[in-house]
Amino acid sequence: MLAQIQSESKDYYNDFYKNNDWKNYPLLIRLKLIVYIKIAQSVYKKDIKTILDAGCGKGLYASLLNQLSYKVKGFDFSETAITEAQKKYPGIDFRTMNGDALNYNDKFDFIFAKGFSPFNTRDFKSSTQIFNHWRDFLTEDGIICAISRSDFTGGSPTGWIFLEEGSINKLYGDTMLQKKIIYLYSPFWLFVYLLPKSKYISLFLSTLSKSIVARLFKIPVTVIILLQND
Ligand SMILES: C[S@@+](CC[C@H](N)C(=O)[O-])C[C@H]1O[C@@H](n2cnc3c(N)ncnc32)[C@H](O)[C@@H]1O
Repeated sequence: MLAQIQSESKDYYNDFYKNNDWKNYPLLIRLKLIVYIKIAQSVYKKDIKTILDAGCGKGLYASLLNQLSYKVKGFDFSETAITEAQKKYPGIDFRTMNGDALNYNDKFDFIFAKGFSPFNTRDFKSSTQIFNHWRDFLTEDGIICAISRSDFTGGSPTGWIFLEEGSINKLYGDTMLQKKIIYLYSPFWLFVYLLPKSKYISLFLSTLSKSIVARLFKIPVTVIILLQND
């Protein structure tokens, strides 16, 4: 079942990447990357040097992380995207690989998975398997950071499933990792960026985003799943 879904979406992505890419605003993405890492480090203590960009597409996020002085590698199961990434950013190690069968000799401080399709699913068994598999590629105290969006309605107005809160927790099931989810409404990005790194600021903004913005007003917020190896 998983293999079938993946081969279908691999064809879909190969086709998509032939003539398209996601809307990209490098300056904004750079700010968001800084915010994701700041939030992860406010929740879990971890010095981050090496990053694996999971489902890296044509490599923009990986290249920006590289500019921010992280040592980055990226993988995607779309050959089309990886060929393009290798051409555009020859200094970065990009590989064609499936997320459920990673093949690296090294371990990473931070596995970054933004919009990674197997985590936008109701196939919780497969998503949990992938999180468990990635645990083997984390350094001690390493962090997985999986990013999606939701308003908790369970709808999919854009094709992206806005999972209910309970379903978001099921994505990582009983994975043997420390678990924390931070929710963030877009305008709050700037606070995280500008204010000192603090667990309490992250938790406060998360509660506001979840309870008021997403639950009450049904406005989608960013869902940041943070899992730490212990
Ligand atoms: C929605 S796109 C996000 C791309 C990029 N991370 C971003 O945020 O712009 C999802 C990416 O994950 C890749 N992908 C989906 N399932 C995958 C899998 N099982 N293994 C590897 N890559 C996968 C797709 O090819 C696609 O590039």
